[in-house]
Amino acid sequence: MRRSALATVALASAAALVLAGCSSRTDDTSSGSGDEAGFAADSLVGVALPAKTSENWVLAGDLFTEGLADAGFESDVQYAAASGTVADQQSQIQSMITKGAKVIIIGAADGSQLGTQVAAAHEAGAVVIAYDRLILNTADLDYYVAYDNAEVGRLQGQALLDGMAAKGEGPYTIELFSGSPDDANSAVFFDGAMEVLQPAIDSGDVVVGSGQTDIQQTATQGWEAENAQSRMDSLLTSSYSGDTQLDGVLSPNDNLARAIITSVKADGRDIPVVTGQDSEVDSVKSIMAGEQYSTINKDTRALVAQAITMAEQLQKGEDVEVNDTESYDNGEVVVPSFLLPPVIVTKENAAEAYANDPTLGPLTEG
Ligand code: BGC
Repeated sequence: MRRSALATVALASAAALVLAGCSSRTDDTSSGSGDEAGFAADSLVGVALPAKTSENWVLAGDLFTEGLADAGFESDVQYAAASGTVADQQSQIQSMITKGAKVIIIGAADGSQLGTQVAAAHEAGAVVIAYDRLILNTADLDYYVAYDNAEVGRLQGQALLDGMAAKGEGPYTIELFSGSPDDANSAVFFDGAMEVLQPAIDSGDVVVGSGQTDIQQTATQGWEAENAQSRMDSLLTSSYSGDTQLDGVLSPNDNLARAIITSVKADGRDIPVVTGQDSEVDSVKSIMAGEQYSTINKDTRALVAQAITMAEQLQKGEDVEVNDTESYDNGEVVVPSFLLPPVIVTKENAAEAYANDPTLGPLTEG
């Protein structure tokens, strides 16, 4: 994915627009595929989700099943299996096309392996919406709906700095973790975080203890907790012998954050400042208990609702509402996107952030 500085600015202002509640449809930010628009109200909408690598995917499946039925659609919601995810998802999408789905919503198992299926869907007259994760290298992708991923990364980077500053003076020693290389989000999260962290690294206020700052070195294959835990184990052995202190760890999500904390605890150390994402139940508990430092609230209910709104707009033959037409270049086209604003959560604002969340609220300190 190519992202220019200008695109990043555009992304930030789009997020500001959403935050200010000004995301209403206007001619210059809307885009419709025109000829595919308008189909029977009880048509099939397919939803192809990746493996359940975090709680948000589990919740999304249930919400899509319920929400699409409420909207009057027939639905086919599928998950890729934990092993062999790519082939699995490819055949699920193919079967949705065969069944005549009018809209196919995809949370990609591997963002660069779905070009053939997206092209086939397009050819069959279905509209394809990438959900949460961008699908790369295809001109046939119609829309993207996601939380603003670059902003997620920036919030994580800033939380890491803030959390360490609250504990004492620098210079601080940190380690960096990123997500799975087959998920297009991983680089966007990491680059967003590095936008904030790099100046502190350049000034010497922050030091990456292992020296591992390339995304290839920091990657966590498959977003698997055990991979993050074993990398943390190795880093502690190789770079933190004796009482060398580790002040902070950039973790791209909650599942990996807890694995990193497990590793550090097993080594008998104080828990460093560890970031996260997804508002997973166990991580929110950990934050309230003073262990994990931060998470990101990306309310899955709002994201699923927006994706269903897009399907409804297509069904009615309306323009699909988007609020960003510059930021997400998938290598072939800039994909018209609807981006929602993520919220950083620490112990300080957790009760407020989850006040209306049926799973997490109300919270007590533990
Ligand atoms: C999602 C994150 C999630 C990760 C692992 C990413 O694409 O945006 O919310 O933590 O996948 O499932």
